[in-house]
Amino acid sequence: MQVNSPSTSIAEVSATNAPFNPYLPFASHSMKQDGLEDFDEKVPQSPKAPSTRSRFDGLTSIYRSVSWILGFRERYSLLLMIIFGGALVGFCLARAMMMRPANVRDLTIAGEWFWYRQPLYKPTIFMHIYLTIIAGIFAIFQFIPAIRRRMMILHRINGYFVLILLIPGIVGGTIVARRAFGGELNSQSGYYVLGSLIVFSACMGLLNVKQTRKHRKWMLRTVTFTCATITARLASICARHIISKIGTYYAVWRCDEILFVLQDANAVDQAYPECGQTGVSPGNIHVAVRAATNVDNLEYAASVRATFGMGLWIGILIHIVGIEFYIRRTEDANQHRRGFVLQREDDEDDAPKRAPDDY
Ligand code: HEM
Repeated sequence: MQVNSPSTSIAEVSATNAPFNPYLPFASHSMKQDGLEDFDEKVPQSPKAPSTRSRFDGLTSIYRSVSWILGFRERYSLLLMIIFGGALVGFCLARAMMMRPANVRDLTIAGEWFWYRQPLYKPTIFMHIYLTIIAGIFAIFQFIPAIRRRMMILHRINGYFVLILLIPGIVGGTIVARRAFGGELNSQSGYYVLGSLIVFSACMGLLNVKQTRKHRKWMLRTVTFTCATITARLASICARHIISKIGTYYAVWRCDEILFVLQDANAVDQAYPECGQTGVSPGNIHVAVRAATNVDNLEYAASVRATFGMGLWIGILIHIVGIEFYIRRTEDANQHRRGFVLQREDDEDDAPKRAPDDY
């Protein structure tokens, strides 16, 4: 970086022959004074491995160019976006198959459709699936700085669009949570807490739409909490294989749910004789089903029921800690551009409310 003064003219900037950087006049102030490393810092080079070095340099410069085009100021922001944004978009695209109703019936964990076909849950699960998948894909554009700085109107429209989809989508998911994975209390409570966290953060982000520093933090939380279900699924996948190996875990099922999955009354009576009691409605009899991933659909579903709540709580915990850590680590970089000046965090409380265009 060669230009340090905010008063440096465009002509002086051009005279340096440096690539055009719209933030150059104040970039040195923001990065150096605030202890951030120069984005253009040279990668240490080893004289022993010239071929690896040049390939690595090529990748690094592509990375830097893309990062610069998208408007990221910090070295690792693009990488973080690729990893976490990629996980969100990848998950949404992977689950997009569930937008086909027959797939929800056939491909959700065995026993789920027993409940989701009912009048309360059928519209809500589809509302949840459609709205969250679309919101999840579009949410990623909110994190591209170039859009925020150069096309603020697009950021605003897309932001409202995502929230209009996300909030009802999460409410739908939270209603379905009453019966998801057998309505097991562990997962029910996890879903309720998660749904409340997401809706609360989204509302706080909306209320602080003009205080961009606070807005950024609440919206980061909203999206991070929304992604906790992805981590929950991963945790549940690991846990279900572990408990299956251990072999001593069970989930409680109603006999009518078991009949719905096995579709064979004799098989149900043989495997779970309690279900064959005469004069008692199968909906009132509960039996323990062994959790095992390698036997049949029923036992596999039992392994999911036994582990999903725990996975959800682990996901919630990881995402809360992760996002608060990230917010604190990036506190210094979270500055506003007001004209040619980046506004420091200390100024926030004194600063008059400003239009979102300022950042
Ligand atoms: C971008 C985020 C999300 C997407 C794309 C998404 C998508 C889906 C999809 C496609 C299903 C159908 C079942 C399956 O595919 O396995 C589903 C199920 C469900 N989701 Fe979400 N979801 C998201 C976040 C959430 C959140 C934050 C909550 C809780 C507040 C939630 C609650 C539920 C519930 C309770 C079910 C039923 C569980 C099951 O039977 O599989 N989801 N979700």
